[in-house]
Amino acid sequence: RLPLPAQIYEPLRANSKGVEFGDKAALAALLGERDAAPPPAPARPSAVGKNAARDVLSPIDGAVVGQVTETDPDGARAMMANAASAFPHWNATPVETRAQKLERAADLIEARRGAFIALLQSEAGKTLDDALAEVREAADMCRYYASEARRLIHEVRLPGPTGEDNRLRYSGRGVFVCISPWNFPLAIFTGQVVAALVTGNAAVAKPAEQTPLIAALAVSLLHEAGVPRAALQLAPGAGDVGAALVADPRTAGVVFTGSVEVARHINQSLAARAGAIAPLIAETGGVNAMIVDSTALIEQVVDDVLASAFRSAGQRCSALRLLCLQEEIAPSAIETLIGATKELRIGDPRRLGVHVGPVIDADAKAKLDRYLALQREAGRLLYAGEAPTPGYYVAPYIVRLDRVADLREEVFGPVLHVATWRARDFDALLREIEASGYGLTFGLETRIEERIRDVATRAPAGNVYVNRNMIGAVVGSQPFGGFGLSGTGPKAGGPEYLRRFLRETTVTINT
Ligand code: NAD
Ligand code: ALA
Repeated sequence: RLPLPAQIYEPLRANSKGVEFGDKAALAALLGERDAAPPPAPARPSAVGKNAARDVLSPIDGAVVGQVTETDPDGARAMMANAASAFPHWNATPVETRAQKLERAADLIEARRGAFIALLQSEAGKTLDDALAEVREAADMCRYYASEARRLIHEVRLPGPTGEDNRLRYSGRGVFVCISPWNFPLAIFTGQVVAALVTGNAAVAKPAEQTPLIAALAVSLLHEAGVPRAALQLAPGAGDVGAALVADPRTAGVVFTGSVEVARHINQSLAARAGAIAPLIAETGGVNAMIVDSTALIEQVVDDVLASAFRSAGQRCSALRLLCLQEEIAPSAIETLIGATKELRIGDPRRLGVHVGPVIDADAKAKLDRYLALQREAGRLLYAGEAPTPGYYVAPYIVRLDRVADLREEVFGPVLHVATWRARDFDALLREIEASGYGLTFGLETRIEERIRDVATRAPAGNVYVNRNMIGAVVGSQPFGGFGLSGTGPKAGGPEYLRRFLRETTVTINT
């Protein structure tokens, strides 16, 4: 049963210790799950920020969801020190023990799914479908990385001349800084952190400033699953907290998901600081395109486009931004698409049957409104939906493009751009799409097998989807992540991911 978010989160407070519950018994009752263990006893804070608690507001209606006491750059550095001192012991913990703690965390995430869903809805504005999928993904991340750690982390004996013993060993690198965005505040946050932990690293996790409560609940639960408090520290705060963590000479690696601009900043900061040369795993945005040719099934195309462009209010890095329709089918496809878009229900995502919830905050809405006003002035709007007021709602929009090259920036919301192309120009179209420099997701709708094979081989993006929607990559089945401006790789939820968190040593003994 789903408890009402306002009821649950009224007593919830987040700070660097994780979550504090004002009324533990009420919370346990509201969770409504028989095995809902009481929340962990408050730990001695590893660092206390100087800031006063601030309210966390819901994007749905501006209601107070809870409170967060953010840390500051000094607090963040104190957390680094604690995490660094916890690293040797955690790194020496057998991989099997670490993997079991992740599996326990997956069980706890599933057991507390009601609380997570309620919080994903009220703090991040997710629809029920999106919230449920995110809880699923977070639990999958824990189980997948646990099994990957078992597969990868063991001593390997290597060949060599007689009288020489060669061994390859894997261990953690030190303290990993994990910096995450608000649009997958549970799945991406958890995925980064558990990947760092299961490979033996200590972790300091900086969630997005919009969604600290979900992160705090996840951290409390990982502690409850047995991850030592000092080995996993939560650093809620703004970008300056992330910047201080990155610049700290004790940072042994950074895993970041967010904008290209901040990824570049982190890269520069890592290069400029003292201390070891640290790896950066960056997953950023995309100007994701779908090509539709005249052999495609229009009903399926429309279904896939609606999900790819407008689900999650378009606030997915994987979302479709640029639909390229072969010109013969464009007029009827656009008409059908507009008809279907009109049917989407926009509003409070806690209501069943709502397809499009709010965007994350006032800044996001203002930025999208400005962009759409420019498109309106330029006479490019093919469709403008109506958003309810008040609240941070932006309705789905469809914008006409004269040229594919006119869209070179990620527009992070429910805005679909449509361009047309001529049958003989397929290769030129692909080249134009690739020229954006991004390479995150790409869609193709066709029944021409040769075209499917060509695109699969050429792979214009990290995740290519044929005759289906372009979102919702499944952990372990569709490893996720792009190249170029879209990120460094390795792909999250894939078999190469954990290696980047590991230190390799070769020991050669002359026997
Ligand atoms: P953002 O880059 O503004 O913020 C991401 C995180 O970086 C936040 O925690 C923020 O506080 C922190 N940060 C800001 N400045 C910093 C600095 N100087 N040093 C260190 N940390 C700093 O991104 P956002 O608005 O939270 O998220 C939306 C973006 O994330 C979109 O571009 C989207 O495409 C991208 N995204 C990518 C993926 C992927 O897997 N490729 C997944 C989700 C979101
Ligand atoms: N992994 C998320 C998706 O595939 C971003 O939509």
